[in-house]
Amino acid sequence: MSAERVLPDGEVRTAFQESLAALRERARTGGACTIMELFAREPERLARLTLECGPLSVDLSRQRLPLAELASLFAHADAAGWQAGRERMFAGETINITEHRAAFHVALRASNPMTLAGDGEVTSEVRETLQRMREWSAAVRDGRHRGAGGERITDILAIGIGGSALGPKLTCEALASCAHPDLRIHFLANIDPAAWQSVRQVLKCRSTLAIISSKTWSTAETIANATTVREWLIAGGIPPAELHRHFAGVTTRADRALEFGLAHSALFPLADWVGGRYSLWSAIGLPLMLAIGADAFDELLAGARSVDEHFRTAPIERNAPAMLALVSLWNSLALGSQTEAVIPYSAALRRLPAYLQQLQMESNGKSVDIDGATVDYPTGAVIWGEPGTDAQHSFFQALHQGPAIQPVDFVLVAPAPGPLSQAGVMLLANGLAQAEALLRGDHESDDPHRRCPGNRPSTTILLDALTPRSLGALLALYEHKTASLGWMLRINSFDQWGVELGKRVALGIGALLADPALALPADMDPSTSALIARLRRR
Ligand code: F6P
Repeated sequence: MSAERVLPDGEVRTAFQESLAALRERARTGGACTIMELFAREPERLARLTLECGPLSVDLSRQRLPLAELASLFAHADAAGWQAGRERMFAGETINITEHRAAFHVALRASNPMTLAGDGEVTSEVRETLQRMREWSAAVRDGRHRGAGGERITDILAIGIGGSALGPKLTCEALASCAHPDLRIHFLANIDPAAWQSVRQVLKCRSTLAIISSKTWSTAETIANATTVREWLIAGGIPPAELHRHFAGVTTRADRALEFGLAHSALFPLADWVGGRYSLWSAIGLPLMLAIGADAFDELLAGARSVDEHFRTAPIERNAPAMLALVSLWNSLALGSQTEAVIPYSAALRRLPAYLQQLQMESNGKSVDIDGATVDYPTGAVIWGEPGTDAQHSFFQALHQGPAIQPVDFVLVAPAPGPLSQAGVMLLANGLAQAEALLRGDHESDDPHRRCPGNRPSTTILLDALTPRSLGALLALYEHKTASLGWMLRINSFDQWGVELGKRVALGIGALLADPALALPADMDPSTSALIARLRRR
């Protein structure tokens, strides 16, 4: 609980509540002036709000945030304990207070030894796992690891969901240009039978290796899919005694994985201090290492490490992740915005919005603070998006003329040196144009239907190229933005209790769908009852 102050009327306020109240008061009027007015009044605006962070530049100057309001934002970050949170995370302290764990994903990419507070150093186990991943993936990639029938592995089937899939899927697609030409990576997450039917059409048992990635080894979809694939392999003639040649596993539960039939040599551990949505840098990243190789995977780690160093040392006013978090906080208070769009102007980054949805919404979609009290302020925004230029032909209408303000993160990739193709020019031109159009609007027409209000905020994040290093940096930037926002909101960004209820309810409904003779519970809501009855009639 932060320091307290008793107001004249007897109300007890903590420093956090005080600074949030002050910030809310500033936000009530601070969002009034236009962004163009701010550019005119603040000649140093662009310089103050463009932040360099490893291979990234982050331009916040087109946010509706007056420089004069930064002081109240920094004061709030201070009162909320942002610095303390940052230091505790890097110290491996138990900051995930409801699961009594550290959130130590920075240790997965650190170059110096990292020690879990109150425990031992973790770097040797991290490096040992990376070395095992390196050796094992090299054997698969160069053909030394063979299937039961002696055939090379040509297809990897990554079975997992949520944080065990979204990072590998995003990065394998984003870095396809530097992937092994003869090793295809497929992903199976959904329990929908159609998902497996679709992917199995392009697979051959003897040349397929499935990686089962599950921190808990208890996620229903993943275990069901893994079981289906095991049956498929057996039906395809893989002798049970040879099955282990077609499986690898990544989990905290080696006991369950060995019981499933995996070999020790293809089993990679995951520490419990790695959150699922923060786990790409761990053995969860094995599908990516298979795709791009261990050296390129090291580049991804190095990119994230460069942002870690920036985040750990940069003062808040030059700290890109912290400033992204403060802008989110400001927009929720000053503009009442409840969503944030992420629009990568890069087809290769098409999965970035989905990845950032889990990272940010599973982290900060909370309504109880770290003391267990219900919050009376906005917390994490809804994160959504699609790549540009596609998005311009679907929801940009609402961004330009809709009544609600939806701040946008534009993610652009600088082109390789040399002449730009016409398509490359068009892509960049559209990315820049949309931010400019949202800023300026269109007031020329007398027809109100054609006018755009403009003054719509956006951030532009520019990658110097799309490489493992810049991608690692981008994802670490958002990890630290997410954690920073959680500290500024006094919520725990590292647990996800909200996902358990749906799983429990699904078990009950599953039993009712599986056995039509079972009576529906008397207290079941009328809608679910009617839908089950209708489905039963099928
Ligand atoms: O149910 C949500 C969740 O726990 C995510 O946090 C996690 O990334 C995903 O499910 C998969 O969990 P596991 O890796 O344990 O299968």
